[in-house]
Amino acid sequence: MDKDQIIPTHQVWDQLDTSRIPFWAYTDPGIYKRELEKLFYTNHWCYVGLEAEIPEIGDFKRTVIGERSVIMVRSSNDEIQVIENVCAHRGMQFCRKNHGNTDNFTCPYHQWYYDLEGNLLGVPFKRGVKQDGEWKGGMSKNFDTAEHSLTKLRVARRGGVVFATFDQGMESFEDYIGSDMLHYFDRMFNGRKLTLLGYNKQRIPGNWKLMMENIKDPYHPGLLHTWFVTFGLWRADNRSELKMDQHYRHAAMISTRGSAGKDKQTTNVSSFKEHMELNDPRFLDVEVEPWWNGPTAVMMTLFPSVILQQQVNSVSTRHIQPNGHGSFDFVWTHFGYEDDTPEMTQRRLRQANLFGPAGFVSADDGEVIEFSQQGFEQKPFHRALAELGGHEIGNTDHMVSETLIRGMYDYWRKMMEI
Ligand code: FES
Ligand code: FE2
Repeated sequence: MDKDQIIPTHQVWDQLDTSRIPFWAYTDPGIYKRELEKLFYTNHWCYVGLEAEIPEIGDFKRTVIGERSVIMVRSSNDEIQVIENVCAHRGMQFCRKNHGNTDNFTCPYHQWYYDLEGNLLGVPFKRGVKQDGEWKGGMSKNFDTAEHSLTKLRVARRGGVVFATFDQGMESFEDYIGSDMLHYFDRMFNGRKLTLLGYNKQRIPGNWKLMMENIKDPYHPGLLHTWFVTFGLWRADNRSELKMDQHYRHAAMISTRGSAGKDKQTTNVSSFKEHMELNDPRFLDVEVEPWWNGPTAVMMTLFPSVILQQQVNSVSTRHIQPNGHGSFDFVWTHFGYEDDTPEMTQRRLRQANLFGPAGFVSADDGEVIEFSQQGFEQKPFHRALAELGGHEIGNTDHMVSETLIRGMYDYWRKMMEI
C-alpha cells in the first residue's frame, strides 16, 4: 500500500489529551488496519530477530512484521537478508518452517524457486512443452525472471539484533531510536556476540498496544506482581527513571534495586507477603554484571514491535506479533553472551523462569491484558485513565507516573492522524 494511503475511520479523539484513552483504540478493527499500515508497514523499523539465530550461511528464521510473514536468512555472501514470504507467482506463503537451513527457497505450489537473496532463479515449464517438434505453452517470450524477485526489505543490524522495514525511505535505525534510547540499546548489545538460550511463545487475547503499555507502566509491577514485591525485585521506592525518545514512541524504565524486605512502602501493598520464602533460592542468585553500569533492570519498548528486557541477569527480546485487533503472539527470545561462564548461563536460564507465559511474574501480565481487553469490548464508548503523575509528558526521576503511556498515545495520534 502507498505510504499516504489512509484506511478511513470515523473515530475522533474526543478526550482533552492522552491522559484518557478511548476504549475503541483497542476494539475498532478499522483502527487496527490503519495501525498495520502506518505503524508496522511504513515509518518504523520492526524487530525480526537476533543474528545468533542464523549463524550459518543458509540458516533462516520465519517470523512476521505486523501480520506479514517474512524470512530472515543468512545469504551466500554472509549478509543478513529479510524477504517477504509471498511467492511472486500466485502469492503463496511458500516457507512453512519456523527455522531451517537451505540453499534456495522453492514454492511447493508450482515450484518457482529463489536464491537466498530472494531472486527468482527458475520457473518450471518456462518455455512450455515440446510436442511434434514445436514448443507449446509456457511463459511469454518477454517474461523476465529478474523482474519477479521476492519483496526485499531494508535491513538494519546493530549489536547482533536485526530490524527490517518495508519502507525504503526510512531514516537510519540510529536516528529512528534516537540517542537517549540508543544509549540503553548499546548497553545491552555492546558488541559481544550473543548466544541463543531459548524461546517462549504465547498468544495473548488482547490488543497489541496493551503489551507496549504494560512495559511503559511502572505503576503496576509493585502492585500486581506479588513475586516481585515479596522477593524484593521491584519496589515503588526503588531508585528509578523513566525516559523517552523525542517523539515519545520508545521508552526505557530504568531502576536500581533497593534493599528487600518490609517497611512502610511495602506494608501498604497487599501483595507483599512477609512470611513467604523461596523453596529454591537460586532463582534470586543475582550476580552484578559490569555492563549494567548501575541499574539492575532496564525495560525498553521500541515502538511498535519489540521489548528489550534486562531484569537482573535475565536478558531477552520480546516480539509483539499482532493478529487482529484483539490478539497478538508474544515471542520471547532468551539470550546470553559469548563470554558468559557456564554458571552465568545457568543463572540466566534459572532467572528466565520469572518470564514467559507461565513466568512467576509475567503470567500476571498476560492475564491482566486479557481481562482489560474484555472490559474494552464490553463498553467501547468508554475510556481509560492514564493520569498518574498529571497530564504532562516528560521524563521523570521516579516511577509513580503514567507519562510513558501518555507519550505513546501522543505519538500514536500523530501517526494515525486521529
Ligand atoms: Fe508459488 Fe505458484 S504460487 S509457484
Ligand atoms: Fe508486568
